Amino acid sequence: MTYVITSACVDVKHKACAAECPVDCIYEGDRTMYINAEECVDCGACSLLCEVDAIFYDGDLPESERRFLGDNAAFFSEVLPGRTAALGAPGGALALGPIAADTPMVAALPARKL
Ligand code: F3S
Ligand code: F3S
Repeated sequence: MTYVITSACVDVKHKACAAECPVDCIYEGDRTMYINAEECVDCGACSLLCEVDAIFYDGDLPESERRFLGDNAAFFSEVLPGRTAALGAPGGALALGPIAADTPMVAALPARKL
């Protein structure tokens, strides 16, 4: 089980979640953030902090957002555009820094008008 970042974060990225995550497992992509399920310890802090309610426990995901469970995982398991290897479990988002890429699913989402 894990927490999952969903559509409300895309093109928003307030990052309050990442600042508070005790294990630094919320990684920054180009248009959204992604939780590494292997590193997440299910503390729930991020979900309480997100002011656009983008973060759900996977068992509580609304049906319309369920595709983000696999998509958060794909950010780490698949080779992203412009990279030569999958990220895997990097062991900390701060040290890795922002990744200038998204999963194909997020990259294909229409731009949000802010
Ligand atoms: Fe996104 Fe909410 Fe975190 S907008 S960056 S999931 S605080
Ligand atoms: Fe996981 Fe969120 Fe805590 S990503 S470790 S539930 S702050």
